[in-house]
Order: sequence, then structure tokens, then C-alpha cells
Amino acid sequence: MAHLHRPASPSGPGSARRVIHRGTAGGGRAGAARAGGAGRRPRAVPRPGAEPGDMTTTLITGANKGLGFETARRLVAAGHTVYVGSRDAARGRRAAEELGARSVRLDVTDDDSVDAAAETLAADGGLDVLVNNAGIERRTPDGGVLDAARLTADETRLLFETNVFGVVRVLHAFLPLLQRSAAPVVVNVSSGLASLSRVTAPDSPAHAYPGVAYPASKAAVNMLTVQYAKAFPAMRINAVEPGYTATDLNRHAGTQTVEEGAEIIVRMAQVGPEGPTAGFFDAAGPLPW
Ligand SMILES: NC(=O)c1ccc[n+]([C@@H]2O[C@H](COP(=O)([O-])OP(=O)(O)OC[C@H]3O[C@@H](n4cnc5c(N)ncnc54)[C@H](OP(=O)(O)O)[C@@H]3O)[C@@H](O)[C@H]2O)c1
Repeated sequence: MAHLHRPASPSGPGSARRVIHRGTAGGGRAGAARAGGAGRRPRAVPRPGAEPGDMTTTLITGANKGLGFETARRLVAAGHTVYVGSRDAARGRRAAEELGARSVRLDVTDDDSVDAAAETLAADGGLDVLVNNAGIERRTPDGGVLDAARLTADETRLLFETNVFGVVRVLHAFLPLLQRSAAPVVVNVSSGLASLSRVTAPDSPAHAYPGVAYPASKAAVNMLTVQYAKAFPAMRINAVEPGYTATDLNRHAGTQTVEEGAEIIVRMAQVGPEGPTAGFFDAAGPLPW
């Protein structure tokens, strides 16, 4: 674990990546039909050392909108075969058509849907990059933050079902495919609110956030990141903080654009085999746990 806790800078979006499923990634027309189809075919970008037909196949959960959608757009442009994971098949199909990606129905809270998605990608040729992006925040009926005084176990369970158990469910289903990749990568979309260092530092904006379950869920994602990274040293597994980004999650109160927010997700989705693992990053570099 050379990079554990002291990761090198992530390599940039233009960095050379891997040699993957020869000739089978994407699975052709049959695969596209099974996965919900696609509009334009993704463009294959040859990498140094790659043979014609080599491609990187990437799955992004919750990619029908927000940061996941923007990440999909950028990775399609970088030459990945991107699967837009969406819990609603029609929303996923629309997004994929717009992006020139593929779509696969995937509800991270539902074992059957996750297993079916893994079967689809297995039949299409496998998976190289998994972006665990799907996430929710829970609010009071009037839109307020569920602070410590108002939080219930049921609300916490609902939130953890998506943000934490969803990550485990998806990893469990897709690990066998990732293990077959020549250079597997996992990006867990976390949050700056997961940082115990930040939420306990009175001068940090994270200190002022009164929500409990969401930061706790993302702190759990950070721990999952480190423990999975240690268990699978051949994979590059990192957590990222996109920054406060205007999306439906925060009713578009975020101060960044999705282009800015997706930057670190896209960068970490493209790290090579020598890149960092077990790290926590935002666009400016490593973050304190
Ligand atoms: N925006 C920020 O400021 C910010 C900051 C730090 C971290 N993040 C993290 O970034 C990630 C993306 O959030 P976002 O800001 O882009 O929010 P968003 O626009 O609300 O997108 C969330 C995505 O997750 C999907 N999703 C929710 N529950 C799901 C489930 N059970 N199965 C599959 N997909 C599900 C949503 O699908 P539907 O359309 O079906 O609801 C949607 O595609 C989240 O993990 C979030 O915690 C966001």
C-alpha cells in the first residue's frame, strides 16, 4: 500500500489508461439492446500500448442527472464506453441518448436490479471503472436540514440504504467484473462533510453544517473506501469531494457548476495503475480524513 494515506497527485484527464477487454467491451448491438440501448456509439480512443478495439468500460450510478450526468458526459468525451446507471429506465435511456452513452437500470437499494445490471455488463464484456455516485440527502417536510434534534433512526436508515449500503451492494455485485479488468478503478463520491477534521474545525464551513445522517453516511463511505482499497490493492479505489455544487440534491443552492463539481470525479476515474489508492481528494488535492 505505497499510496495509503499519502497518495500522489491524481493523474490528469489526459493521462494514458489501460488495456481492457479486447474487442468485447460494449457488447455490440445485442448488449446495447439488453442495456437499454444508446444513441450515438461511444468513440474509442486508443491508448499507448492498446490494440485496436481496446476500450475502457465505465459504470456511473445515478448518472441520469447532476454530477453523475456531467461525469458521464466527460468520460464519453474521453473515449470511455459509459453506462448511465439510473433507477428509472426511461430517465436513464434519455440521458444515455443525449450523451452517446449506454444505459442500464440500477437502483442501488435493490439487490435484484443491481445483480441484473452486473449480469448485463458481464454479458457485454465487463467493467473497468465504477463510479459510486448515486446519493441522497433527507430533509424535513418543509425542506429543513435533519439536525441532531430532529433526526430519527428511520430517516438515518433510509439515507444509509442509498449512500452506504448502496455502495456496498454495488461493489459486491461488480467486484468480480472489476477483478477481471487489467486496471480496475473505483471512485466513491463522498463529501467534504465526511471529513472529521473539517467538521470539528470551527473555522471550516463544514463545521457549521447541522445535518447528522448525511455527513455520517459519507464518513462511512470514506471508511469503505480505505478498507476496500486495502483489500484489493490491484484496484485504485478513492473517495472524492466534488464541492458544493448546484444540483437537485441541494435545490440548486450549491455555489459550483456541475462542470466544476465533476472535475475530481472525472480525474479520479482516469487514474492509471500507478495512481493513488485509499485516498480522499477534491479538485485541489488530498483532503484530511
Ligand atoms: N451537489 C453537491 O453539492 C454535492 C457535494 C458533495 C457530494 N455530493 C454527492 O454527489 C453525488 C451526486 O449528487 P448530485 O449532487 O449530482 O445530486 P442529484 O442531482 O440529486 O443526483 C443524484 C443521483 O442519484 C440518483 N439516485 C438516488 N437514489 C438512487 C438509487 N436508490 N439508485 C440509483 N440512483 C439513485 C438520482 O436518481 P433519480 O433522478 O432517480 O433521483 C440521481 O441520478 C451524491 O453522492 C452526493 O451525495 C454532492
